[in-house]
Amino acid sequence: MAITDTGKTRHFLDLSAFDAATLRLILDHAAQLKAERKSGEFRPLLANKKLAMIFEKNSTRTRVSFEVAMMDLGGHALPFNSNELQIGRGETVADTARVLSRYVDAIMLRCHSHDKLLELAKNAGVPVINGLTEYSHPCQIIADILTFEEHVGPIAGKTIAWIGDGNNVAQSWIMAAALFGCKLRLACPPKLNPLPEVVEWAKSRGGDIELMTSPEKAVAGADAVITDTWVSMGDVHAEAQIKMLASYQVNAALMKKASPSAVFLHCLPAHRGEEVTEDVIDGPQSRVFDEAENRLHVQKAILLWCLAKI
Ligand code: CP
Ligand code: NVA
Repeated sequence: MAITDTGKTRHFLDLSAFDAATLRLILDHAAQLKAERKSGEFRPLLANKKLAMIFEKNSTRTRVSFEVAMMDLGGHALPFNSNELQIGRGETVADTARVLSRYVDAIMLRCHSHDKLLELAKNAGVPVINGLTEYSHPCQIIADILTFEEHVGPIAGKTIAWIGDGNNVAQSWIMAAALFGCKLRLACPPKLNPLPEVVEWAKSRGGDIELMTSPEKAVAGADAVITDTWVSMGDVHAEAQIKMLASYQVNAALMKKASPSAVFLHCLPAHRGEEVTEDVIDGPQSRVFDEAENRLHVQKAILLWCLAKI
């Protein structure tokens, strides 16, 4: 898997294709749009714009936040399960990209294979947004950083602990750590480590990334503790993964080892009693519902960037 190169069209495929200043611009706009929405202000910045959304996998937050984002901005979103489109019965990704580009202004895809996303972007005449692949979940991490900075402060120089599966969300966090200048410690069972090329890319950009096996070591003094489901959508070795991850639960004892002001983040959906205990995810350090809300404000800023409005 090659690190994504976005090229000229304003695709939002992976954080690795961005410079820190552009991501900061997106974050600043997200914060501004959040404040405007809270005060009841809605500017039709995407009037008449249309976003097609294709889902090969389930979604609550990504689907609803993008749809509401387009509504709030005066545009329109068209959500599809991939099975109801001809792509679900064999029409090529390239033809789907060419056809949809004649109708809509941007396309969001949630799919298994990252190569499919890249193929769509290669053939689309409009911006393509990564709504999650097995490789990465960049929209999520921008919302995570917005949430972290609202509650803890500027992320540069802070320590983030990732506990569990070195999955798509972890890989986007690795890319973000290199761009935002935070330390990222990942405690994963060796067989579930993130892809070496992602870690190497981040390190080559000066990223302070440390892989380890001990959750206790990873969270020691950390400013945020983050985890995700032990079994991601499309994972085929569920039972083996659950066994490997049994000692990677974020519980109260583990949270105690982090900084007293640390926040707990999780992209959701969560499995209470597996990767996180109820007392942590529903406890005072958890910011998971702010994090989910921030998906909405961030999607708006991403859409505005893709459509060259910022
Ligand atoms: N966090 C996230 O992407 O949630 P959904 O799967 O509900 O979209
Ligand atoms: N890692 C999870 C994230 C869900 C939002 C998955 O891919 O299923």
